[in-house]
Amino acid sequence: MKQAQQRKEGQSAVAACRADFPALDQDVNGHHLVYLDSAASAQQPSAVIDAMAHYESHDHANVHRGVHTLSHRATDAYEGARDTLRRFINAASTSEVVFTSGTTESINLVAQSFCRPNLDPGDKVLVTHLEHHANIVPWQLVCEQTGAELLVAPINDKGEVELDALYALMSDKVRLLAIAHVSNALGTINPIREIIAEAHARDIPVLVDGAQGVPHMSVDVRDLDCDFYAFSGHKMFGPTGTGVLYGKEALLDAMPPYKGGGDMILEVSFSGTTFNELPYKFEAGTPNISGVVGLGAAAQYLESIGMQNVESWESELSDYMTGRLSSIGDMRLIGTAAHKAGVQSFLLGDIHPHDLGTILDHQGVAIRTGHHCAMPVMEYFGIPGTARASLAMYNNFDDIDRLVAALEIAKEIFA
Ligand code: ALA
Repeated sequence: MKQAQQRKEGQSAVAACRADFPALDQDVNGHHLVYLDSAASAQQPSAVIDAMAHYESHDHANVHRGVHTLSHRATDAYEGARDTLRRFINAASTSEVVFTSGTTESINLVAQSFCRPNLDPGDKVLVTHLEHHANIVPWQLVCEQTGAELLVAPINDKGEVELDALYALMSDKVRLLAIAHVSNALGTINPIREIIAEAHARDIPVLVDGAQGVPHMSVDVRDLDCDFYAFSGHKMFGPTGTGVLYGKEALLDAMPPYKGGGDMILEVSFSGTTFNELPYKFEAGTPNISGVVGLGAAAQYLESIGMQNVESWESELSDYMTGRLSSIGDMRLIGTAAHKAGVQSFLLGDIHPHDLGTILDHQGVAIRTGHHCAMPVMEYFGIPGTARASLAMYNNFDDIDRLVAALEIAKEIFA
């Protein structure tokens, strides 16, 4: 009874939330859109679109430079968004919130500025087998540049990191552990709090790839005690080309700049340059001001919904999706971890994932197909790719029923 009541309340809250997202209210190929590709890029609420339009229409100028009113307004909007993001992840100070173009740039920044000067031949960087390419390739590059070695902790058939093996790899030669909060291909939620504590017990700093974490659960960087946390704007209902690198102030302070240019300096002369204070030291050139304004609006929107509500709704939906998909004959679920987010990879009979994605699109159902920028995961499972449905707070039970109905049609077509 109580569960039915809660579900009803959840459904009416989600109906209100859906109405905030104009892109969800459209027909695609003659069917009302069912958007199940938020792990690739989430839709934006009007609050984000309007905040950027307002900024562009009224306040646009360069930041941190002008004495005129518009430049002050632009600076206030940009720095106001930084404070919103600080609050959103509970960072201690805005000095710890560096704006980047996204998770990929955040991770590259740490690889080149934190790791490169500190890695010697024989040192190691540790990752896991379920990482996104953005949390593999930057470490391969810096290992090649320094003679360090990349270690990979194994996963099991459910798509969980083998924790004992991970801890066994944490030798005194490991200079950094880089690990996903949530796997984009498998949906696995890693127990990062416990993993960070184990790494710290061995003096190993930890970078968390939070691209798939921040949009779906509350993240408190001080509670996690992570050293770095990277995430993207466009997966948390903000614009593309925006993101954040959170870093502990003492670490960021000791790191050299990653890019040179305007705004990251205090003084430049041909005899030498002194760098700006945090976080500006890492933000060379005119930043993506309107994007950051949109990112701030996205964080405020999520705060207004409440991350606990997002998490519990998505968990209910995710269980429903797993149950419904499992009931389809010839269905193979890839990624069946005990602790999972609303991401489900699957294969249906021997239908190629791209064919499946195309047939679903004809039914108005948007999913992602392919290797999901996680080719080592596909290699582990011995498959070239999967079809993947990924949920966000605006999805509902009907979306999942439509997905299942479209998959049944695909089965009939290929029978
Ligand atoms: N990383 C994005 C995804 O998982 C693009 O689809």
